[in-house]
Amino acid sequence: MPDNQGDKFASIIGSEQAEPTNIVIFGASGDLSKRKLLPALAHMHRWNLLGPHSRIIGSVRENWTKSHWINYVHDQLLQYFPDAVLNPPSWKRISHKLDLVNGDLTDPEMYQQLAKILHAENGKKNALFYLAIPPAWYECVAKNLSEAGLVDESEGFRRIVIEKPFGMDLSSAQNLNQNLQQYFDESQIYRIDHYLGKEAVQNLMVFRFANSVLEPLWNRNYIDHVQISVAESLGIGYRAGYYENSGALKDMIQSHLLQVLSLVAMEPPVSLGADDVRNEKLKVLKAVRTITPKDVDKIAVRAQYTAGTAAGIDLPAYRDEKGVADDSTTETFAAVKFYVDNWRWQGVPFLLRTGKALPERVSEICIRFKAPPQTLFDLHDSNVRNNELIFRLQPDEGMLLSMTAKQPGLSTDLRGVQLDASYGIAGSEIPEAYETLFHDVLLGEAGLFSRADEVEESWRIIEPIMKNWSEKKDISTYPAGSIDVPGLDDLIADCEGKWRDISTKKHEY
Ligand code: BG6
Repeated sequence: MPDNQGDKFASIIGSEQAEPTNIVIFGASGDLSKRKLLPALAHMHRWNLLGPHSRIIGSVRENWTKSHWINYVHDQLLQYFPDAVLNPPSWKRISHKLDLVNGDLTDPEMYQQLAKILHAENGKKNALFYLAIPPAWYECVAKNLSEAGLVDESEGFRRIVIEKPFGMDLSSAQNLNQNLQQYFDESQIYRIDHYLGKEAVQNLMVFRFANSVLEPLWNRNYIDHVQISVAESLGIGYRAGYYENSGALKDMIQSHLLQVLSLVAMEPPVSLGADDVRNEKLKVLKAVRTITPKDVDKIAVRAQYTAGTAAGIDLPAYRDEKGVADDSTTETFAAVKFYVDNWRWQGVPFLLRTGKALPERVSEICIRFKAPPQTLFDLHDSNVRNNELIFRLQPDEGMLLSMTAKQPGLSTDLRGVQLDASYGIAGSEIPEAYETLFHDVLLGEAGLFSRADEVEESWRIIEPIMKNWSEKKDISTYPAGSIDVPGLDDLIADCEGKWRDISTKKHEY
């Protein structure tokens, strides 16, 4: 298939083709690279979104030859995006783009090799450096790139992409930012938060700012509270090394869920320019009420899974997972009630919850509206609740508006109905978050990436909870496959309604 038969797809994620770019992946033989980055690049190649003469340059520690690297990419794509290699002409074109440097990240010689590869080309020498490596190496790579003259933009753009965690607390995040900014300008640094690449998250902005019907309702007068839920059915798998020092609060709430909160709560930006959007998100984060030590136990709940069966898979207790300490108090579930102290949101709770080993994998934003001011109908025993607007991030990306209607018949029985705008129903092909984000980095569009000050503000918000939890010697538990977390319902007790049932039975309401 020709690489440009992607009109339908290209029209979804933007058909603009990127300028030719040398895409350098540090940690190219690692997990992120094989599962996400290589398939995303192959997808983009297929839809003609990578500029001609772009190259994908793997940087690996192993002493591989270029042909070994090409075979490796072939094998990974066969597993994660088979279409890319099962079509011989397409694979041939991808394989011609592959190049390799090997060596240790600390070795200046490797960066000289890289400089040679970048300079071996005529024309523009744009370069994107993707750091798919542990954060402890970020500064070392940035410094070496700078010393090898690879950060200078006189011959083309230079951009660096990093993955979370961006620090493990406020001061380490500040250090990381300062260290990177010694070598790269903030405008060259792209901090990936893959939740911002998710279709439904982006649609939230479109939905809010391209429709006039919502704006009058989008405030404390009509909205009772907001729930943001990210439930995963898997346990921590092989990631104990990272997770033991992180936990659900730092792993998910500090980054993805607070980013989503800021998109729900932000004021309309003056333009879609990256800094206009990020300035508005930052204002929200700054307005999140500072949590005092005495409030932590009232607004935050944590727990850890014990053995059970989640989505049909038997899971051991977290403490029995490989690499986890027998007396670990790391939380695998966290829920927090935040308030945004500004004119629009005063008094509206934002309830965030996330966890592993829960019954299903479901992520959604629920805007729950207030009940009508007067109850004319007998709601007793009926299956009717407050209106809700749901943005389903996964699975079944889309939006649902739940309303109340009359049950057909002679009596005035009420029932819940849903206006369902599922993306699946619209028949669209949904790009994977990494494709959207890669595309944006290549085009220099930074709106979906976290800026240094947003990251630091998010740490400011959660630090009092981190401190409180780090001082506790025990932790509540929930059986894997359930969401029976002690204290969870108390967080929502002063709101209208309960926690939404995060099940994929989307018509249940
Ligand atoms: C990552 C977290 O950022 O997001 C993981 O480190 C988590 O712990 C993952 O599993 C969830 O992403 P998604 O897209 O599968 O919801």
